[in-house]
Amino acid sequence: MLNLAVAGTGYVGLVAGVCFAEVGHQVTCVDIDEAKIKLMKSGRSPIYEEGLEALMQKNYEAGRLEYTTDYRLAYENADAIFIGVGTPEQGNGSANLSIIATVARQIAESVLKDCLVVVKSTVPIGTNDKVEQFIKDFLVHDVKIEVASNPEFLAQGTAVKNTLEAPRIIIGIESAKAEKLLMEIYEPFHLPVVAVSRRSAEMIKYASNDFLALKISYMNDIANLCELVGADVQEVALGMSFDDRIGNRFLDAGIGYGGSCFPKDTKALDYLARENGYELRTVKAAIDVNNDQKTMLYKKACKRLITFHRLKVAVLGLSFKPGTDDLREAPSLLNIPLLLEQGADIFAYDPVAQNNFSAKFPEGINDNGSITYVNSIELALEKANVCFLFTEWDSIKSIKPNVYADLMRTPLVYDGRNLYDPKEMKKEGVEYYSIGRK
Ligand code: UDX
Repeated sequence: MLNLAVAGTGYVGLVAGVCFAEVGHQVTCVDIDEAKIKLMKSGRSPIYEEGLEALMQKNYEAGRLEYTTDYRLAYENADAIFIGVGTPEQGNGSANLSIIATVARQIAESVLKDCLVVVKSTVPIGTNDKVEQFIKDFLVHDVKIEVASNPEFLAQGTAVKNTLEAPRIIIGIESAKAEKLLMEIYEPFHLPVVAVSRRSAEMIKYASNDFLALKISYMNDIANLCELVGADVQEVALGMSFDDRIGNRFLDAGIGYGGSCFPKDTKALDYLARENGYELRTVKAAIDVNNDQKTMLYKKACKRLITFHRLKVAVLGLSFKPGTDDLREAPSLLNIPLLLEQGADIFAYDPVAQNNFSAKFPEGINDNGSITYVNSIELALEKANVCFLFTEWDSIKSIKPNVYADLMRTPLVYDGRNLYDPKEMKKEGVEYYSIGRK
């Protein structure tokens, strides 16, 4: 088993580190955040992720997993160092690589033996070449280092499963030595490994994410047309899904994609293309459709209501998708300010993301309206004038149509996730609007 270090304990770094320990490697996770390290040492996960905390505790107790802020200690004798730090979007849409550069510099100062540096973070094509040169430029000791690409495809909420049971591992390598070491690292996972060049590996990550984003935007575009011509997008998706060239996943029209990857990675590839003198028209279209889609329900509601002023508005679901407390690019972040501006009194429910949301929108008077966080769906719906559904949590999906009719003052529901059968809602007396259906 190998001695591995992982830089960054966000979704990518922490999940990778824990899973490497789970298959038997000796892993040290590094982060600059002292409080986070302390929290993890106490057995707690800094992120909400199914199954992660249990694996953290198990492997920490078994002595295979360590957490530290001391990067030197972690890097000096590592066989491989994985970089899983953030590459956030910056003003012009490109990826900000400053955290990667900081880690690269720390690696250059610390390594005492030959070592493979593996970039897991999503980085623009060509970055691995630059990281390798950068580390070589700053190397303090007489050792050989090489950089490999190993993009991460985990989805939030299912990150551990996605890592331990990934459909494929992509490795981007420029030497047989790097390939051999990565094969050894991934051998205990018993998963298919696709070995390609570093630049192809970097591109596979963007091309995959952007393809999925495009698939969703395509269905949202079709959904908007379905409404105009009287078709039902869910029936359309069902019919399409039987064609295995299309597949049956990521065909759900809704309130647009959010999260930490699709919005950022579409913009980054669009930027990279323009930088290379090329216009990536399909990806650009996916971005445009998504921007409009996120406020589609709000716009529909504005056509139906004169104003939201002093209306009780129930908002069910705040996170960008179920299974996570992450709010990055969540549709709620765009819609709630619009409602508050119009003077709505919002009663918001989310099983896990309320704390994160209230850090951005504190409870009480806000703009022309107000926001109150409630811990039950019933409290949100009671005497509400209108309800918005933003996230398909199980607890929200399980609410029967009659509950809206029974609890709300006016049962008017705008559903961004197509959770209900319009006919059933109508039967219960609920005025119901969804995406891509009459
Ligand atoms: C995604 C990719 O799935 C993952 O492989 C990559 O590594 C990171 O980005 P994630 O952002 O965690 O993962 O969530 P995902 O489940 O893919 O959903 C992304 C967004 O698309 C969510 O807002 C979701 O609601 C939306 N979505 C997804 C749809 O609107 N329709 C669909 O059919 C599927």
